[in-house]
Formats: sequence, structure tokens, C-alpha cells
Amino acid sequence: MKHKTLYFEDDVLKMIDQRILPLEIKHYEAKDYQEVCEAIKKMVVRGAPAIGAAASFGYYLAVKEFYKADDQDSIKKIDRAKKDLLNTRPTAVNLSWSVKRMEKVFKNENNISLSKKLILDLLYKEVKNIFNEDIKTNKKLAEYGNKLIEKNDVILTHCNAGALATVGYGTALGVIRKANQNNKNIEVFIDETRPRLQGASLTAFEMLEEEIPATLIVDSTAATLIKNQKIDKIIVGADRIASNGDVANKIGTFMLSVIAKVYEVPFLVAAPVSTIDFDISNGNEIEVENRNKDEVTEIRSVRIAPEGIKVYNPAFDLTPAENITAIITEKGILKPPFKECIKNLT
Ligand code: MRU
Repeated sequence: MKHKTLYFEDDVLKMIDQRILPLEIKHYEAKDYQEVCEAIKKMVVRGAPAIGAAASFGYYLAVKEFYKADDQDSIKKIDRAKKDLLNTRPTAVNLSWSVKRMEKVFKNENNISLSKKLILDLLYKEVKNIFNEDIKTNKKLAEYGNKLIEKNDVILTHCNAGALATVGYGTALGVIRKANQNNKNIEVFIDETRPRLQGASLTAFEMLEEEIPATLIVDSTAATLIKNQKIDKIIVGADRIASNGDVANKIGTFMLSVIAKVYEVPFLVAAPVSTIDFDISNGNEIEVENRNKDEVTEIRSVRIAPEGIKVYNPAFDLTPAENITAIITEKGILKPPFKECIKNLT
């Protein structure tokens, strides 16, 4: 993608504001950890790997703001900041994965005698690693995923699991990018992805920029396309994968997986190993975020439902492992039974 999803410069985190894409391309700047929290909560930046990367920089900013040698109060403030970062969005595990990595560097016993400057240098290096590794991981994952794509495949995707959901390149869209680069003559159908329309505003934007043939549909069209044998494969990303292979991803993913199973269309999930939560045995242990009712009663601040109507707005759903054909990671393609393959990754 021509534009960077997020990057840092002079201790400022700059994120392309995904709330206003594709109408405007503007960067939102976070200069302290609270501004990073706001950006994640308000979905300026979104997508599991991207919010993980943003939170790592948020942790760095918190240490920069609060840390004082031999001051327990400063440590409490950093722990508070960590909790605030973790509480921004509950479902994507990449957030806690990256914050844990940062905390490990900060709390490393060997660093206790170091100056604040040296501690900050180490944390900055870790943020850089997290950012760089994300792009490398996605490219590796895409190479594996590409092996599952045949010439002339028509692929359906949901939400945005592209460069905009990661530091760059993307997961599900990374596989699509790679297949396109390899001249597989693929075609993509994009679910608009109500309520926040990540498909219509973000995936469509990425596909056009990359000149990948793509068609936008409303979410409820997907079933008819699948039934009419117009779709060869479905590829989605993930926000959290349990150790039995259950997947939490954008609301609507589960419904697609059920239709895919009925009509025997391969249902592929592309995600880095950092999206696997090895500590939970199945998807029921995943906290699903419930979001504001305005996301359903309004479209970009234009009211579409009457005042007073009750709303239920979970941001994610759970796709059981038995509906998934393969999970594509940077360590290879996992096939059922997932429990064994996932165990072997630890
Ligand atoms: O609510 P969002 O936009 O953060 O949800 C994002 C998704 O559900 C993506 O499909 C998922 O994070 C995979 S991103 C590589």
C-alpha cells in the first residue's frame, strides 16, 4: 500500500485515520499513551496486529512520561498505563502480546541499574522489532497462503485484514496480494462488513490501490454467491485464535463459515502466531467486545434508525474450529485437528 498504516517519528505515533478513509487520507498523531488509548478505542487504528503495534508504542510513551529511577510511584503509574492500554479493546490478543513484550524489556532485572535513557533506547528497539517483524511475518504467511490459491480463484473476504489492519502488507489480504503478484488471475468479492464498513471503506480502498479486480457486496449477498458456486475460497483474518483452533473475528465471520461448510467452499483463516492465545482452550473463553449502539443506528453520523430502538452490537463472533479448512500462519499451514498443530507451535 502507498500509505503507511502507522509509524513513529520524533516520539510521536502517526496513524492513518481509518475513520475517514477512503474519503480523506489524514494522519492522527498520538504524543502520549492516553492519545494512543483514544486512537485504539475510537478505531482510528484497528485490526488486531495494528492495535498491538500501536499499544507497544503507547507503552514506550508511558515509560518516557512516568519513569523515575528508585521511585515506586512511577512504576505504579506505568502499570496503570499498561492496564489502560490493555482495556482499550478486549478481543484481539495481539494487544496483550505486544504490551507483554514491552513489559518484559522494561522489567528485565538486568536493566535496573541502567539510566532512563538506556531503558528508553531498549524499549524503542523493541517497538521497532514489533513493527518490522509484523511486516516480515505477513509476507511469510502470504507465501504459505499463496500455495492454497489456484489460478482464476474467486475469493471472498470479510472485514479488513489488509495492510490497514497490520503494520503493513496484511494477513488475509496479504495472501490475496501475493497471489495477485504471482499472476494467478484472482478476483475478489468484498463483504461491506456492517456496522463499521471496514470492507467497503478499507478493503475496497486497498484492492483499488493495488489494482486487484474486486467487487463490493452487502454482507447478505455472500450466501447467494456461495450457493451459486461463484466463490472458490473464503479468506478472513482473526482477532484471537484459541488453542483448539476456534477463531474470534469480525461479526459475520461465523455466518460465512456456516454457509461455506454447507456448500463445501474452503474456509481459510490467515493470522500470525501472535494472534493465537495458547492460554485458552476454546473460543468460549474469548471476551467479545460490545460496541456503541450508534454504530448500528447511524452510518457515519447519519441517523438511519428511530430514536429509542434497542441495539445489540457485538464487534466479533466465534467461528468453531470444525468450520475452518486451514489456518495460515508464518510458521506454515495448520490443518485439522488444529489442537495438535497449535500445540506444536509452542
Ligand atoms: O474491529 P476491527 O476493525 O479492529 O476488527 C478487525 C477484524 O476483525 C479483522 O478481520 C482482524 O483483526 C484481522 S486483522 C489482520
